[in-house]
Parts: sequence; C-alpha cells; structure tokens
Amino acid sequence: MKMHDLELSVNGQSVSLRVEPRQTLADALRGTLGLTGTHLGCEHGVCGACTIIVDGEPARGCLMLAVQAQGAEVITVEGVSPPTGLSPIQQAMREHHGLQCGFCTPGMVVVLHHLLSTNPDPTDDDIREAISGQLCRCTGYQGIMAAARAVVARRRHEIRDN
Ligand code: FES
Ligand code: FES
Repeated sequence: MKMHDLELSVNGQSVSLRVEPRQTLADALRGTLGLTGTHLGCEHGVCGACTIIVDGEPARGCLMLAVQAQGAEVITVEGVSPPTGLSPIQQAMREHHGLQCGFCTPGMVVVLHHLLSTNPDPTDDDIREAISGQLCRCTGYQGIMAAARAVVARRRHEIRDN
C-alpha cells in the first residue's frame, strides 16, 4: 500500500508521520504518536469521544483521515492539560463529579476547554451547546454542567476582585 508522509503540529510540536491512506487521524494520534487520551467510542462521528481541536475548531478525530491533517495544528486532550496537575476544567470535573466511567471525559474536556478559551463568559446555553455533540453513556451531564459553571463562576469572581 502506498504510504503518505505528513508534517503537522501536534500539541505545539512539529511531527512527521508516515500513514496509510485509510488511517484516521484519531488512530494516528493514538497508535503512532501514543496520545491515547483521545478515546474512540463509536468511530462513526456520533459520540464525540474522539474530539480534538484542528486549526482552532473542535473536530472528530474518527471522521478525519490522517492525510487530511497535512499542515494542520492539532491539539489533543494532552495538549489542553498542564504538564503537571489538572487544568481548571479538569479540576472542576473532579470536584463536581463530572465523570463516572470517564470514557467521554477527554472529549468533554476538549470542547469545554475550547469554549472557555474562546468565550470569556459563557452562559448555561453556551455550555449546553458546546457539549451537545458529546455523548456520555453514564449520563453524567449534571456533573459536567456543574463543573463548567464552577469554572465560569470562579472566573467572574476573579474579574470582579481584580
Ligand atoms: S469515536 Fe469519533 S465520534 Fe465517536
Ligand atoms: S462518564 Fe462514562 S461515558 Fe461519560
């Protein structure tokens, strides 16, 4: 099979990949780069577990071929996490029971990180919209909403106190 050479940025690092034409981006991230934080649930674009950020927008890693990422800037859940400890949304999910089995969690973290970094003061509707493409089979939506609300509320306090 003809292999394709790719150059892309993943979590701020330039990487070179040799992939099969049929390989999905999610599989390349997990299998070739070892970034297993990106989960694969349905592999049909339905569940959102594989959500990553491609050129600034959330995207389904299972619906993109790796070859389509040539030259792209890709951010995975590893890239939205600090080198040690937890990001504000990860910490809030821990505090507010925003995860049960945790399978949907990377996708939830990625879309909420994207929301919180692009919208300084999201409403409840904005949060619901952001996670509307993410399925949680444990139906942990209340905890996930509570976590996102807590980050927004903390941010409002910080702005008010400064
Ligand atoms: S694994 Fe990609 S949307 Fe479910
Ligand atoms: S916590 Fe189990 S799928 Fe969401």
